[in-house]
Amino acid sequence: MKDQIQIVSWLLTRRCNLKCSYCAIVKDYGLKPVKYPDMKHYTEKEMSTEYVIETLKKIKLHNPDAFHLFYGGEPLLRRDLSEILNFCNENDIHYTIITNNSDDIQPLIQKLLHEVEYIQGLTSSVDPMILNDYATPEDDRYKKCIAGLERLKNYTGVIKDVVAEITVDNNSIDNLYTLVKMLTEAGINSDITTVDVAKTPYYDFSNVTDESQLVQRDQHVKDIFQKIIDDRIAEEEAARIENAERFEKIRKYREALAADGIDPDMPVDDHFNTVVTKTQNLEKPNVITTLDMESPGAAPMGEGLGDLGNVEIAVPQIDEIGLIVKDDLGRPVQTIAKPLIEVVQGIEVEVKVMEDILQTCM
Ligand SMILES: C[S@@+](CC[C@H](N)C(=O)[O-])C[C@H]1O[C@@H](n2cnc3c(N)ncnc32)[C@H](O)[C@@H]1O
Ligand code: SF4
Repeated sequence: MKDQIQIVSWLLTRRCNLKCSYCAIVKDYGLKPVKYPDMKHYTEKEMSTEYVIETLKKIKLHNPDAFHLFYGGEPLLRRDLSEILNFCNENDIHYTIITNNSDDIQPLIQKLLHEVEYIQGLTSSVDPMILNDYATPEDDRYKKCIAGLERLKNYTGVIKDVVAEITVDNNSIDNLYTLVKMLTEAGINSDITTVDVAKTPYYDFSNVTDESQLVQRDQHVKDIFQKIIDDRIAEEEAARIENAERFEKIRKYREALAADGIDPDMPVDDHFNTVVTKTQNLEKPNVITTLDMESPGAAPMGEGLGDLGNVEIAVPQIDEIGLIVKDDLGRPVQTIAKPLIEVVQGIEVEVKVMEDILQTCM
């Protein structure tokens, strides 16, 4: 573990559709010595697909659990991104794509979603500057963050790990806590980076030269981070208590089933029929056809479900009004509201989607 590569940052391209004020990756840096290559060189000499894939193979052999960050520039501008992601998916290589998620990039994300079986992770910028009065809509950094905030919410049901990359500076640090809270409430994890300063006169990550823009290492900043950490600990504790209560309810429910002569461990479909029948006095055969999600048009619940493979219903929480339909990677793809929940309350196990039931609840 000690001498292994754990995280690999891939600067897949220096091309980008935006020009954010703090970013030097996509611009010719003013202080660069003439003998150093310019942007033209970097855009013409990007790593080839073969080179990327061969290197991924080598790293996989070196450390099968290494995590890859595909960024740039804008990684979606690489035509071979689907090929790279397909290779990762097929070889169980862990990754996320860091994208600016802006308007121009949306068709490319949609195209990518069609070309790969799934995307493991999508990260996009949402900086606290969007909550600041000083934020200028002319700065691409502002535009990408506004777009990122809305769009990340939409991707939470489609992509497994959706993360907000928060780049914070001294002007926006006071809004960091509020932003992380907003994102958490939207089900989005946050990754926080502080704006960096330019370190060399050559090509550098950062365009920032004024150190007063950097987040200061003082008590005020420590307190902000501490508040974020305290919230996180409180959330974990609340989830732990909720889970304990849930399992207790399930235990009681299983006991009640057993007392009524129903085997709680009977095959799921039978269990489901029994409970439906028992609770609503429905005619048992009325309910059941297992939905084959692979046949075109089989999904009664709307777009996108037809090609997702074996879809299952999970009952996430007993008290929750609704069920989450998950695909076989565990990604939530659909929420079904009442009245079915009254019927299935308390069932812990995952059950096969049954067409008639779904139609009943829509
Ligand atoms: C260079 S970008 C590349 C990926 C994509 N184009 C984007 O903007 O998300 C990766 C991350 O670096 C951040 N970044 C850009 N300039 C920075 C700087 N000077 N200091 C710290 N982070 C910076 C961006 O906000 C973004 O979250
Ligand atoms: S931060 Fe990202 S979106 Fe902005 S210019 Fe740099 S690479 Fe492009």
